[in-house]
Amino acid sequence: MYVGEKKVFSGIQPTGELHLGNLVGALRNWAQMQDDYETYYCVVDLHAMTIPYDPAAFQAARLETAKLVIASGIEPKRSVFYFQSQVPQHSELAWVLSTITGIGQLNRMTQFKEKADRSGQNLGLLSYPVLMAADILIHKVHAVPVGEDQRQHLELTRDLVERFNHRFGEVFPVPERITPAVGARVMSLQDPTSKMSKSDSDVRSRLLLTDSSDQIRRKIRSAVTDSERTVAYEWKTKPGISNLLELFSVATGRGVEELASEYRDAGYGRFKMAVAEALVEYLRPVRQRYQGMDNAEVSRLMAEGAAEARRRAEVSMATVWEAVGLSA
Ligand code: TYM
Repeated sequence: MYVGEKKVFSGIQPTGELHLGNLVGALRNWAQMQDDYETYYCVVDLHAMTIPYDPAAFQAARLETAKLVIASGIEPKRSVFYFQSQVPQHSELAWVLSTITGIGQLNRMTQFKEKADRSGQNLGLLSYPVLMAADILIHKVHAVPVGEDQRQHLELTRDLVERFNHRFGEVFPVPERITPAVGARVMSLQDPTSKMSKSDSDVRSRLLLTDSSDQIRRKIRSAVTDSERTVAYEWKTKPGISNLLELFSVATGRGVEELASEYRDAGYGRFKMAVAEALVEYLRPVRQRYQGMDNAEVSRLMAEGAAEARRRAEVSMATVWEAVGLSA
């Protein structure tokens, strides 16, 4: 775990349907980092506008996402937790950063290429990583807990910091990416060579944080593995089993290799049953907290979070305006 400087930021898109990859790759680190750092967490609603959406459903999905983040252990009393659109400094800083970002660099972003293929190109989709850099930099943080799929975006952010500081003076720290040693890239249960994702049309490919115990058992039982019999941690030849081993390890806190040798000859059926039961227990408290939550109370907490974030972002943005020659 990162030790050193003290501030942390991360964000999640409001799809309303958070999955196990979000929890294992990112949210569990968010929760843990609250103990030692000043933490800023954000439901990045502006980012979700880059692909077509329905406004009424969007409003509801945003609140659902906030509830699921809180259910995953983010405590609005210990973190500054808010909706991105309610803190205008994110967009202001994005504009400033856009003026030092090369279009070629944005064109090369893997996620842009993937999403543009699926939903068509728009300027927001192309400049997405600039807004993401602004999210990270607005609070001048030092560390960003994310899954492996955000690597390229973090690299762009670090590049922009170096460019900005070189041109305008030392304004931003260079943020470090924090990914878990196990579970940084949770794979689809139906195709273990691609990542678990909200946009996969097959719902059996992912475990949702709201899935019932029976749904969890069914999805794990139908997870794609391979035609052999031996449980082994071997990504090249056994991606399905290796993915399940990583999830098993996260859910139990035990080592991957230790679990692999314990279940080596158990057969895939018994192995999957054990993984499913571990995941049922791992997800139970999240689902229970979520079910006990009150919408009005969560909305109130989010408004408070945004007010606090605006106060802090305004101070920080003033240093940017000054650096670029636009102080009051
Ligand atoms: P998003 O909303 O797709 O995902 C939220 C977090 O979950 C992680 N994640 C995964 N981790 C492991 N395995 C998976 N299969 C998996 N799928 C998702 C993501 O890495 C992420 O950490 N661009 C970001 C949102 C964002 C952001 C930011 C993040 C906007 N501004 C600033 C950090 C800092 C995204 O689309 O995440």
